[in-house]
Amino acid sequence: MQSAAQGAARTVSVNRVDGRLKVTGGARYAADHLAERAAHGYLVLSTVALGTIRSMDVAAAERAPGVLAVFTPFRKLELIGGGNPFSVGHSWLPLQDAEVRYHGQAIGLVVAETFEQARDAAALVSADYNVRPPAASLPDGIPRAADPGRINGEPSVLDMLADGVGTIDEALASSEVTVSGTYRQPIKHHSAMEPHATVAVWQDDQLTLHNGTQSTSLTVGTIAAALGIEATQVRVISPHVGGGFGNKIATWAHPLLAAAAARTLGRPVKVVLTREQTFTITGNRSAVQQTVTLGARRDGTLVALKHQAYSSQSTSGGIFESAPHTTSRYLYRAANVHLDQKIVTLDVPPPTWMRAPGQESGSFALETALDELAVKLGMDPVALRLRNYATVYPGRNVPWSSKHLDECYRVGAQRFGWDRRDPAPRSDVRGEWLVGTGMATAVYPGERFPASVKVRFLADGDVAVSSATADLGTGMWTVLAVLGSEALGLPVARIRTDLGDSTLAANIGAFGSGATASTGPAVGVAAEAARTELINLAVTHERSPLHGVPAADVQYDRGELVAPGRRIGFAALLQAVDVAGVEATGSAAPGPEHGQHAFTSFGAHFCEVRVNRWTGEPRLARITTVIDGGAIINAKTARSQIIGGVIFGIGQALLEGAQVEPATGRIANANLAEYLLPVNADVPPIDVHFLDHPDTLFNPLGARGIGEVGTVGVAAAIGNAIHHATGRRVRDLPITLDKLLD
Ligand code: MOS
Repeated sequence: MQSAAQGAARTVSVNRVDGRLKVTGGARYAADHLAERAAHGYLVLSTVALGTIRSMDVAAAERAPGVLAVFTPFRKLELIGGGNPFSVGHSWLPLQDAEVRYHGQAIGLVVAETFEQARDAAALVSADYNVRPPAASLPDGIPRAADPGRINGEPSVLDMLADGVGTIDEALASSEVTVSGTYRQPIKHHSAMEPHATVAVWQDDQLTLHNGTQSTSLTVGTIAAALGIEATQVRVISPHVGGGFGNKIATWAHPLLAAAAARTLGRPVKVVLTREQTFTITGNRSAVQQTVTLGARRDGTLVALKHQAYSSQSTSGGIFESAPHTTSRYLYRAANVHLDQKIVTLDVPPPTWMRAPGQESGSFALETALDELAVKLGMDPVALRLRNYATVYPGRNVPWSSKHLDECYRVGAQRFGWDRRDPAPRSDVRGEWLVGTGMATAVYPGERFPASVKVRFLADGDVAVSSATADLGTGMWTVLAVLGSEALGLPVARIRTDLGDSTLAANIGAFGSGATASTGPAVGVAAEAARTELINLAVTHERSPLHGVPAADVQYDRGELVAPGRRIGFAALLQAVDVAGVEATGSAAPGPEHGQHAFTSFGAHFCEVRVNRWTGEPRLARITTVIDGGAIINAKTARSQIIGGVIFGIGQALLEGAQVEPATGRIANANLAEYLLPVNADVPPIDVHFLDHPDTLFNPLGARGIGEVGTVGVAAAIGNAIHHATGRRVRDLPITLDKLLD
């Protein structure tokens, strides 16, 4: 591998190679795929939260113009096996039984010649239910909270106590200063710009699925299992994904039903979810209620950290938000730690992974509680965090591979101008605006998976670099091009990338902020193998100008093969021997070093808010975010990732929340008019800075993940700034103006 790929400091910053396609409409998303003779499917959703369907009246729908079929639990599309929250997103398969588990569950699929015909006919379907009252409120369910079992391999109730300390409450009782707060946040939705869509096309017994997904390979496995076919019979294509945030990992009902309906009807079927349907068909982030109690000495040293959480879970199963175990477990050094995660099972749509699952909610509670402690101690919030800085992973005697969180604090404080801060709340009033500043820590684990990449030298002088990974706006198209360019010593413009197709080199996809760290190292391996193949061809092919030269005497140098006295570009070579391309596939995977270190991305956020004295309106003025994410492969798309993460956090802090009606279990604001997301006017200038310390113990590139860490801590930093501005501590998200009115 070239030196630049070995973890040296980097300054690469290039435009998205797919940018032109995206802004010209040339990038085809799943729903853009026009299959010949495609029929259109429209989901029918339940209008009650809990019960059993006694019967469904589909006669009017079947008679409606253009309708080809109406599938229901009484006229099934046969799916086999069972559900699974990790594959289909819930514990059951759609339309296989008459049970209704939440409001907005799929109970039918109408297929018609056009989308509008299917939609209109779906409105004619009615269902008769035996209804039972749902449980849809997290607070109401807390008395019956349950133990979820192990979390990240550890008990859901975890004590890490100092010698001689019997319980966390004992440690709290002996602390000189304590603070305690209860923090709440509602169910939230990923709200990717591209609603979920699928086009299923059968040719004989081969299925091609155009399906926006973070993992073509997981989709292949899920679809094949449910349809009772071999994985080799399924191809999933997903070159462009308009946002995922964890919500396009599971396969959900629509691709399963589209594939099954297309098989039954003998023609392609396209199903595009409406915005409203995405709220209930494709998962959410748990509502979470947490209590954090901190005990400290007067100098700020943490003696006790007690973090308890209740997260909403669905009767359909799902990946609930595990807050304490993803934050308080390891973020600080505290003499005594107690974590307790419980779940409250509700009749609501299943939770699933959502950007920084666990850390997002956990950091809000922990990082707000630390601010409350700093205020009580009269200590600077940065100094308090440095006082409790962890240098080894708590309770596990392993060091971090690379941790520069202290530098994030220092550099962030300096860039932001933190020193100028008067710590007294409500000390900065400018006209009608109360001005405040706050900060918080960001943290997300470094994840890495096995991955393969194919590198192919082409006779036209380009090199193809491809892998079955995904780009959900994350920049992977460009990262592959940059890494290919570096590994081969060629301009980025000569690298042709391809991804998002399950038939490409094996790759589990994009999640856990692990795509670059997983796929990146395989680019170098594949490039080296392809160079070897190229040299072999050059010395063995009789029409090659290098025929007969010992392979050991031939070097690859920036697209050319160099032998004593001779030099030939790979395109000229391939043309001379009349070969279209030379290729090799390379793989990379985590090794045994992964048991010897902890791998974590860190960061620090600093923000300034203004709260209107008369209306309570909170406005962000500016944010500085410093990230320790290892080597940065492409500064431009990396910065974009962090900005996106910070904006996600602004939504958490100020705007987002599902309004679940307690009596009906209906999400009353399942649309983007009432489920508020940050728009440009809500987003202040965001100063993103990367430390760029390559983590070469993690992988040869030194790159950790940056897709999720940028979100973590943002809500706390904003809430802390609001407290500084107003003197009011809001522990219930989102922090809306009604909570700030005097
Ligand atoms: Mo992420 S929540 O693993 O897409």
